[in-house]
Amino acid sequence: MALPPTSEKQIQNNEWLQALYHLALELTALQNLDSVLNTALKHCLDLTESQFGFVGLASEDGQALDVVAMDGFHPDTAFYEHFHLIPLRPNVFARAVLENRPIRSHDARIDPAKVGQPQGHPPVIAFLGVPLRLMDKPIGMIGLANRPEPYDLEHEQLLMTYAAQIAIVIRNAQLYEELKLAKKELEIQVVNRTQQLEEAKESLAQKASQLQKLLNEIVDVEERERHRIAQDMHDGINQLLVGAMLELKSMQHRLTNDQVAQAENSLQSVQSILHQVEAEINQIIHDLHPPSLESLGLFPALRRYGEKFSQYAKMPCSVQLLGDPVRLGADNMEIHLYRLVQEALQNISMHSAASQANVLLNYSSKTLKISVTDNGKGFDPSNVDTERESHLGLIGMRERAEIIGGQLKIQSSLGEGTVVEVMVPISREFGDG
Ligand SMILES: Nc1ncnc2c1ncn2[C@@H]1O[C@H](COP(=O)(O)OP(=O)(O)O)[C@@H](O)[C@H]1O
Ligand SMILES: [Mg+2]
Repeated sequence: MALPPTSEKQIQNNEWLQALYHLALELTALQNLDSVLNTALKHCLDLTESQFGFVGLASEDGQALDVVAMDGFHPDTAFYEHFHLIPLRPNVFARAVLENRPIRSHDARIDPAKVGQPQGHPPVIAFLGVPLRLMDKPIGMIGLANRPEPYDLEHEQLLMTYAAQIAIVIRNAQLYEELKLAKKELEIQVVNRTQQLEEAKESLAQKASQLQKLLNEIVDVEERERHRIAQDMHDGINQLLVGAMLELKSMQHRLTNDQVAQAENSLQSVQSILHQVEAEINQIIHDLHPPSLESLGLFPALRRYGEKFSQYAKMPCSVQLLGDPVRLGADNMEIHLYRLVQEALQNISMHSAASQANVLLNYSSKTLKISVTDNGKGFDPSNVDTERESHLGLIGMRERAEIIGGQLKIQSSLGEGTVVEVMVPISREFGDG
């Protein structure tokens, strides 16, 4: 069966369909947006026998069209730099975008919406512009110019089909860019996060090793303290009890020999020895846990300790009060502060060679500031080797301050004496003054 004769129109339609098919293939293969636009534009010019044309994308502020592809007219760089932004005004060229529909003109030079062309631009006679749409919104346009005959409806439809394909490619390219950016940001975030984790890990490890050292130190301190108490009991109480025992023996001897008056003397000696024993035991109990701290509060307990310190360290130590004191019930706060001051005074007696120590408790409405000051030789706190197991007094003070939500400051310089200052927040709501 013979095929029916084909008209010129059918041939053209076939040609267009084929071109469209090839474009679709090319568009999916091309990666780069610029080459996609140039290829598409070349097709449009060829199929419509146009002299030149352009693809423009609306700028972000919506004020202008940015010419991103051009064919058939090749201006020099200076011209392009100067004129690549076409203002979006309602003239024959930009109406396609502003009105979001195809615009045709038989002769743009005499069109009611005509507009001047920059010098050096070939005159536009026949013109066809169609919008590039994304979800029905115009994002730019394709403009074709100067086919020998005016553009007709079929050219318009052809160009609309091209425009739909190009818009999809543009969207793909935008999505791809966004994806690349998001990926980059994610990578940066991962790197940052990893670094933060690394730092946290390091500081945790450091903290753990300090804690371990402190623990050892606490065990050490306890051991030393027990040793001292044992020594005290041996030297003091034991000796006294041995004396009392001897006194009792001689009393027994005197009683059997009817030496009543002498026996009474021995009895008095035993009584006086037992009083001394009592005093010694009280002292030991006090050292173990200062009872005045619980019954009287921080200031009286520290004043008592200051007196004892003055005696055994052979250095005058004043303990003074400013403001309105309040009991600090929470979290062993008073015992932490007491031990902290003890440690600071201990350092003064061991290291400072000072002639005077002062403790000042300064209560305000919301804070308690305690300063322990000496007029000794001073030291450089930043230069204390805290890695050495033996120097844990300062670290311990800092830890105690932290535990009770306070801050520790040490001011000292060689020859200038030292101020150890701890500041803690206090609550007056439940305090009994
Ligand atoms: N009041 C002070 N005057 C002078 N030096 C001090 C004073 N307090 C601390 N230091 C110095 O800081 C060092 C660290 O103190 P510390 O951490 O308590 O450890 P330790 O007392 O076991 O040496 C001390 O060895 C001493 O050199
Ligand atoms: Mg010390």
